Amino acid sequence: MKKRLLAGVKPTGDIHIGNYFGALRQMVESQGNYESFVFIADYHALNQIQNPKELQSGILETAKTYLACGIDPEKTVLFRQSDISEVLELMWILNSVAPMGILQRAHAYKDALTKGKSVVAAVFNYPVLMAADILLYDADVVPVGQDQKQHIEITEDIAQSFNHLYGKVFKIPEPFINAQVAVIKGLDGQKMSKSYGNTIKLFETESSLKKKVMSIVTDSKHPDEPKNPETCNIFAFHKLFSGTQLKALEKRYKEGDISYKESKEILFENMKIFLKPLWERKHELDANPTFVEKALMMGAEKARFVAKKKLALVKEKIGIAS
Ligand code: TYM
Repeated sequence: MKKRLLAGVKPTGDIHIGNYFGALRQMVESQGNYESFVFIADYHALNQIQNPKELQSGILETAKTYLACGIDPEKTVLFRQSDISEVLELMWILNSVAPMGILQRAHAYKDALTKGKSVVAAVFNYPVLMAADILLYDADVVPVGQDQKQHIEITEDIAQSFNHLYGKVFKIPEPFINAQVAVIKGLDGQKMSKSYGNTIKLFETESSLKKKVMSIVTDSKHPDEPKNPETCNIFAFHKLFSGTQLKALEKRYKEGDISYKESKEILFENMKIFLKPLWERKHELDANPTFVEKALMMGAEKARFVAKKKLALVKEKIGIAS
């Protein structure tokens, strides 16, 4: 029996290469080895996007991104979170066992408080919905970037609290974090994140990709000075895109045989080679919304089948017959 993998991405704007290397690539490469469930976390985006048109188009773009990156709807159950309303029922049930203390320590909630933002309840309850996502589908592994690790740990705690009260109903999931790509850095060397404005999107235009690559922050070393690849923001991107040339580039860095400008130009060419097939597939999908919608409907049907069965068991265990 194959293990089950589950992963999600919020439809909150264009997916960036941090999302790709941190999570999406693992989802694509794991197809076939796992029973894969991959979804668009649209309910999780509601506290960030309050414009219905923007949300609608974000959902569609995220679906197309999954497909363009290589998610095959015949091999992976690809679905919209909101198509399976069972997840909200389970979330409420889990709310009854989720310890407040754990939720109060969640990074995103604490961060919002420290920044003096007015916090809606959905930010506080975000990890409980995420636990419902994972536990509803009996996931064994959850591929994520480092920033989601705490959410998986909270899921484990919630599952254990429930199992302690009602018997072993939920599987305890494991995060699947690839250390080398757990935190992809952005143009300025901080974690790549839309909220820091330092992203390179998967689907930039060629000219905007070039502009962004040329704007990667470096120190002010002269072209012929030796440079440290390990602390260079450009080199961090080379590690993702310049595979076979990496050794030679490292040598040139150390010997003071390359300028940052040339390093950026090489990076830009390599990124284009890597990203172009994705751009082409995305372009085809832009012209075929029916295919995308059909894929989501097919995924929803399969996901619903699993979700209904699990929720019925949970309801029986808690004493609410369905
Ligand atoms: P989201 O949409 O913020 O990010 C999607 C995935 O991308 C990873 N990621 C990164 N990885 C490495 N370096 C980065 N700079 C970087 N930025 C983002 C994230 O860790 C994530 O894996 N809460 C989730 C969505 C979600 C989910 C789930 C995920 C909802 N329910 C159940 C897994 C299982 C989120 O906000 O991801």
